[in-house]
Amino acid sequence: MKSNELLQSAEALLQIQPNATSILANASAFIMDTLTELNWAGFYLYDGKKLTVGPFQGKVACATIELGKGVCGESASTRTTRVVDDVLNYSNHIACDSNSRSEVVVPIIIKNQLFGVLDVDSPILSRFDSETVSFLEQFTKLLVKTIDIWYPIG
Ligand code: SME
Repeated sequence: MKSNELLQSAEALLQIQPNATSILANASAFIMDTLTELNWAGFYLYDGKKLTVGPFQGKVACATIELGKGVCGESASTRTTRVVDDVLNYSNHIACDSNSRSEVVVPIIIKNQLFGVLDVDSPILSRFDSETVSFLEQFTKLLVKTIDIWYPIG
């Protein structure tokens, strides 16, 4: 399925979820189901001080991550998408699953406030090309739109 078709399916799925936890849980399953060669897909949520693990698919992961630490903490503190082609050669990477070789993290910002990050890992080097990164960024925009209904900020 093409990116725009996947985004349409995602929007239909996310819109019918009864609360924010359901949105994030099914969002992680959707990503794991639709993208190939992944070993982890899920969320770290900002609690006002640090990131804590949210709904995800994959192996048991670190429960908390400080802002600035790891690829997730970097994305959260800079509010930018981070793509790491080779996690073994990236010093600020936190290894939760030793199978991971590349990673992308997209920040989730709702009304200018940090909500958390979407973290996706792959056992393949350089798995995340620009098309996949763009898809995940668009997917995150859909998430922001739907989560905002359950966490109205401002
Ligand atoms: N690798 C991440 C930590 C989270 S796990 O990949 C699930 C990082 O460096 O922030």
